[in-house]
Amino acid sequence: RHKVIFDTDPGVDDALALYYLIRHPQVDLLGVTTVFGNAPVALTTRNARFLLREWGHGAPVHAGASGPLTPDMPPEAFPTHIHGENGLGDHPVDLDPTDDPDDAAQFLIDMIRLHPGQIRVLAVGRMTNLARAVQMAPDIAGLVRDVVIMGGAFRVPGNITPAAEANIWGDPLAADIVFGAAWRVVAVPLDLTTRTFMDRSTLNDLGARGGPGMRLVADLSQNYVRFYQAAGYDGMLVHDAAAAVCLTDPDLFTLTTGEVRVLSDGMALGLTLMNPADRQGPMGAWQGRPRQFAALEGQPQAILDRIAQVC
Ligand code: BDR
Ligand code: CA
Repeated sequence: RHKVIFDTDPGVDDALALYYLIRHPQVDLLGVTTVFGNAPVALTTRNARFLLREWGHGAPVHAGASGPLTPDMPPEAFPTHIHGENGLGDHPVDLDPTDDPDDAAQFLIDMIRLHPGQIRVLAVGRMTNLARAVQMAPDIAGLVRDVVIMGGAFRVPGNITPAAEANIWGDPLAADIVFGAAWRVVAVPLDLTTRTFMDRSTLNDLGARGGPGMRLVADLSQNYVRFYQAAGYDGMLVHDAAAAVCLTDPDLFTLTTGEVRVLSDGMALGLTLMNPADRQGPMGAWQGRPRQFAALEGQPQAILDRIAQVC
């Protein structure tokens, strides 16, 4: 079984990913850590608690970073046009925003040390909590089983700027730290997730016929689907849920490997650059970095089918 900690900024696609994890028979969800991103951390934490309560799951929720590690970032503009004012597509949420201590990084450290070689972290928001955890306790890099992230745009344009994908753009220095630590990172980037969309009728069918909590996911996804349809997609991009499938069903993904750097200043802020495996010669800023992995290719339809099966 997979012992998973879910680091997230719910977030509509985060909600689908969380439901997938909860429903998956091989996943033990040991905790949820939250981060700013789709909404302020007081809201993403509240949203995580709300979803777990609605689905009757007792995983602890630990609040994390309210802003980036990267210096001199422009003030965060939350993507209310995609995830709603409340982060859950403006679906009613009957819980107040939280005012929790920021202890997500410490929780990650404690859990990874408690279960050496076993914890799988699925990080689908800014990488701030993970970066802080590995800075505070470098030993966890050798103790975690792996880190699967949704993030990056390696050979396709970003979704925030032409250079950058949202989770990386929101804290590029944190992402550079995560790709540079001596653990195994598998990124599920826009290269694949922009080809992995669920159309409205599939979503609504799943809401009607899926597990008992799937109705809520379908309901809170309605504005999100509308946004993606207006943007020219034939359905909603399931980004974070695709990364969850990568954790449970790696065979559906084709990994490219190489050292990764993330630009943390300048006009291409948040650009993810991987050194291709066959490069000879000078390595510059890539020298000495660990080889990491990016799922640039995969089987979008099989990924969606897997989500439908589990949820
Ligand atoms: C990522 O950004 C967030 O808005 C989504 O939840 C997803 O994690 C996609 O770029
Ligand atoms: Ca997310």
